[in-house]
Formats: sequence, structure tokens, C-alpha cells
Amino acid sequence: MAPWPAPPPPPPPPPSLAAPPPPGVSAKGPPARKLLFMCTLSLSVTYLCYSLLGGSGSLQFPLALQEPPGAAEPPPPSLPPPPVRLGAPSQPPAPPPPPPDNASRGEPPETPRQPAAPGADGWGLASGSGGSRDAWLRTPMTPGEMGTAQSALLEREAPESSTTDEELAGRRAANGSSSAVSTPDYGEKKLPQALIIGVKKGGTRALLEAIRVHPDVRAVGVEPHFFDRNYEKGLEWYRNVMPKTLDGQLTMEKTPSYFVTNEAPKRIHSMAKDIKLIVVVRNPVTRAISDYTQTLSKKPEIPTFEVLAFKNRTLGLIDASWSAIRIGIYALHLENWLQYFPLSQILFVSGERLIVDPAGEMAKVQDFLGLKRVVTEKHFYFNKTKGFPCLKKPEDSSAPRCLGKSKGRTHPRIDPDVIHRLRKFYKPFNMMFYQMTGQDFQWEQEEGDK
Ligand code: A3P
Repeated sequence: MAPWPAPPPPPPPPPSLAAPPPPGVSAKGPPARKLLFMCTLSLSVTYLCYSLLGGSGSLQFPLALQEPPGAAEPPPPSLPPPPVRLGAPSQPPAPPPPPPDNASRGEPPETPRQPAAPGADGWGLASGSGGSRDAWLRTPMTPGEMGTAQSALLEREAPESSTTDEELAGRRAANGSSSAVSTPDYGEKKLPQALIIGVKKGGTRALLEAIRVHPDVRAVGVEPHFFDRNYEKGLEWYRNVMPKTLDGQLTMEKTPSYFVTNEAPKRIHSMAKDIKLIVVVRNPVTRAISDYTQTLSKKPEIPTFEVLAFKNRTLGLIDASWSAIRIGIYALHLENWLQYFPLSQILFVSGERLIVDPAGEMAKVQDFLGLKRVVTEKHFYFNKTKGFPCLKKPEDSSAPRCLGKSKGRTHPRIDPDVIHRLRKFYKPFNMMFYQMTGQDFQWEQEEGDK
């Protein structure tokens, strides 16, 4: 096994913070709740300040968030909060107005008018070509490993987002491994008991492929996009998308866009209040660059990252309506989820640690899901060519496999000044996120943004 980089020191012990009040419950309560409530409100004021400085005159996304050159950093989230609250249990936040001219960025509208097929990723890049680039590939990577789609519903997979079960089935055949060992075709289809809800480019595919190694987990390989794009198809449709499970097995799926979908928390809550939610988060600056890199790979003609990141670069006006930037304002999105779910039902996985210490992060995931720690360091090895950890024995195969070439791309070089400005822009939101989650992800301490 190749040597592993030494994992970074663990984050300092989290402050004990309670979740904000659940739906219908007043903010009055124990001091910890008050504190978080105040923090949430102060986030709102931070956001308000940004919006006023940006001159948009609106409290809703999308906004242009201004950071003038040399200007003081935005007020920290600990400032006294104004009487403003984002969202409310009885009135979930209104969906954001469509971002301006996404087409020029190669982006589709964020909320497609027509429901898309499961697995269709953001950017409107779904194609019928399958998702071989997004799969865990055998080492060395073999192109064109694709199974035949069994279902018309599942075959339109976005190349960027998902590995289909069909693809994996094709690999099983190619590997000569018996699918009956780990993926029996009997049992019952159930609605998921756990979801990976985000974030896009956080490392969600790596997490899903690692957890599905667990014999007590069955996960759908495609992204069903039920709670954002396919909700009107109904729960029976959703259940049908799921793999069959035996008693005691957990059904899971991942759709990273749920985390930034306003309606998702309410919809998921109405399906299963006790569902477990997992969010893989990553330094939002790196995440934005990764997101951009993905789009660039499909649409080389789009403007540079530096151009897209600003409404007005001279004024330092950051364009938070650009989804690559907006997705990384984790605290604002989380606020929406905490209207419906207690913090204890959400696990935040560090995308950075998932790379340097996958077994450590998987231990937390398995504990959170109430599973025996079956996926351990012996399941991973570091592939020097890939530059990432790979699985020794994926769910469907006894052969080692890395993720495909759409995972772990080389990022374009970004002007360090732009990175600096983005880091300053995200800092107060990151601080707020650390407070809300009780976890310090240490993104401010990172030297580079790769
Ligand atoms: P980059 O391609 O920018 O490096 P998602 O699956 O949510 O789209 O996330 C993709 C990111 O997962 C990749 O972003 C990569 O950094 C990260 N990642 C984490 N573990 C990985 C692994 N074992 N192999 C490849 N990429 C991994």
C-alpha cells in the first residue's frame, strides 16, 4: 500500500451548540438555542449588509455581494442581530429568482421548468452517453466501461454526476464478479432512510461509492433528483428508483443539489422526519473552482473564472448569483434545513479529510448511520497516478477501482488576488457555518485552494 499523507490534526473540540428551534417552536428556550438563534439572525444582518453594499436592494438570492478593494471585512456573524430571520417553518423561503443570464456561463436555469430524468446533473449537461467518466474505474482506468441501461428512467445520466447501477452491473460482468454476493436482486424496494444531500463537488461520489461497500447499505448509483426536479412523479416513482434491500439493509441515494434546493427540506421532512442527512462540505473557494472546472470541461468557450466571479471586478463586487459561488454559502443553505431537522440528524463530512483520511471519515459516517464499522483503512489505498484514494474492493467488484476522470480534475490556475477576495468573501459565512455545525473545517488555514 502506498504511504498516506499524514492526516492534519483534528479540529478543536466543537462548541456545544443546539439546533435552532424546530418548526413551530419559539426561539425562546435554553441559552444555547438563543445563541444559535442570535447567530442566525446575525447572519441575516451580514447578508443584509452585503446586499445593501451591493446595491441590489433585495434580501433574496441572487445578490451581488460587494467587497470593495481594501475594504474592511464584512461584519462578523457575532454582531447584534437585527429582527430579521431567514425562512420560517410555516413559510419556507421563496425560491430564488432566476439568476441573470446563466446561459452566458454555460449554465441552465437552476430550476428546470421540465422535470429532468434522474441523474441529470447541473449545468444542463445531461446526455444519453452514460456516466463512465464519473465511475470508479479499475486501476488503471479503463475507458468505455458502461453497462446497458435497464430502465429508460435511469439511462439519461449526466456524465458528470453519477455512476449508474447499470454501469456497475456492466462492470460486474466485465470483472466476472457475482452480483449476487453484494447486490442481491431480491428483497424489497424501500424509500431511503439516509440521503447524501450535498454539496456538489464536495466529494459526494467518493462518499457514496465508499459507503456502498458496506454490506448493510444499498444505494442507487444515479442521482434521482426527486426532491428538486422529479417531485411531481410521486413517492412510488421514487421508491421504484431504489435498489432492492433485505431486512436490516439501509437504502440510500445522493443528489447534491438537494442542499441548495429551497423546497427540499420540507419535502424530505414530509416523507420521513427521522431520515439521516449527510452533507460533504469542502472549502467553498476550491469548490467553486471545481464547479467551474467541470463546466469548462463541457463548454470551453465560457468566460474565465475571474470574469464570472465578479459583477464588477474593479469595485470588488462578487457575483453571488453565480451558482458556483452561491452554493458555497453553506450557512445560508443550512439555515433552511434547520427549520425542519435537528442538527443531530445531519452529518457534515469534510471533503478535505475524505481525501487524506477516507477511513477516518467513513468511521464517522458509519457511526452516524448506526452501522458497524466495516469500511475501514483496509478498503482504501492511495493511487499515486490518480492522486486520490481508491477502493480496493468496490461494492460490485473484487478489483481495485478509482473514481473516473471527472473526479479529481486539474483545476485551471486562478488569479491569486481573486482567490484572496473570495476567501475574504466567504470568511464570515464560514465562521457562521462552523458555529451552526459546531465543527471547525479550518478552511481559513489552508494555504492553497486546491
Ligand atoms: P475535483 O475534481 O475538483 O478534484 P463530487 O463527487 O461531489 O462531484 O466531488 C468531486 C470531488 O471529489 C473532486 O473534485 C475531488 O477533489 C473529490 N474527491 C474526494 N475523494 C475523491 C476520490 N477518492 N477520488 C477522486 N476525487 C475525490
